[in-house]
Amino acid sequence: MKKIGVLTSGGDSPGMNAAVRAVVRKAIYHDLEVAGIFHGYQGLIEGNMKKLELGDVGDIIQRGGTALYSARCAEFKEEAGQLKAVEQLKKNNIDGLVVIGGDGSYRGALALTKLGFPCVGVPGTIDNDIPGTDYTIGFDTALNTVIESIDKIRDTATSHDRSFIIEVMGRDAGDLALWSGLAGGAETILIPEVPSDISEIARRLKRGKDRGKKHSIIVVAEGVMSGQALKEQLLEKADIDAHVSVLGHIQRGGSPTARDRVIASQLGAKAVEVLLNGDGGMAVGIQNREIIAYDFEEVFNGNHKFDDRMYNLSNELSI
Ligand code: F6P
Repeated sequence: MKKIGVLTSGGDSPGMNAAVRAVVRKAIYHDLEVAGIFHGYQGLIEGNMKKLELGDVGDIIQRGGTALYSARCAEFKEEAGQLKAVEQLKKNNIDGLVVIGGDGSYRGALALTKLGFPCVGVPGTIDNDIPGTDYTIGFDTALNTVIESIDKIRDTATSHDRSFIIEVMGRDAGDLALWSGLAGGAETILIPEVPSDISEIARRLKRGKDRGKKHSIIVVAEGVMSGQALKEQLLEKADIDAHVSVLGHIQRGGSPTARDRVIASQLGAKAVEVLLNGDGGMAVGIQNREIIAYDFEEVFNGNHKFDDRMYNLSNELSI
């Protein structure tokens, strides 16, 4: 292995830059050359890349977003696009590729591995939804962004005795909603992993009201339904008129927390080690605080772990 490539793909997440920096510096430390590929798989297909030196990744560890840019690339989902990518990798004498992204990006990395090109996946997504790892880069920063918003909404909810629905991202996973709901003291949390019962939610809200609670915070994961749809159901079925706040892409931005920077550095470095060992078709991650590498197939055969104890706790604490 003499030269590796690195790209970021899919939805950006805070800490991706710290991961890129770690990949580049760890690789150079081991006398490897690094090509930074811009705009994810789209850039790979087009050969949009440049040699990265130590200084190219200076001053990015604290920045949100991705200095390599990102994209969602439809062409790469087809084999023809993947073959073009392999051609570019060969043309540029790249021997291994580090892909930083979510499960869609991993699918691409698996496809390249199956075409004979060694790839390693680094989990970068605010959704915290990749099977096989307890954590994905960006989750902690996004979580703190959500909590900051919930705290602010709570101020106005309290002042006006209002109910608020806060819709958070997470795609099909409820981690962001569950963690932020618990940390933000939400009365009710709706996540895709647990079927929602609107009558039960209404009953809980009413019970709080009867006890003298004048405001309420309801956190709904986008994978359950939109905040607006929930508002309509609560109004129709329980005569509760809630205000809706959709946090949207604000959740993806911002300077990464210390946790995201440290974990991104560890995982980026681990990915280079995996390639140096001659292994491809692997993902890196954390399990029980250990930095690990595991087979890509596990990502696609496994399920994202849902912490039902935490869900039960949030219900107990919000009576
Ligand atoms: O996967 C990250 C994520 O932010 C999800 O939480 C969200 O559903 C999706 O990406 C939004 O994607 P886009 O920015 O392409 O609309």
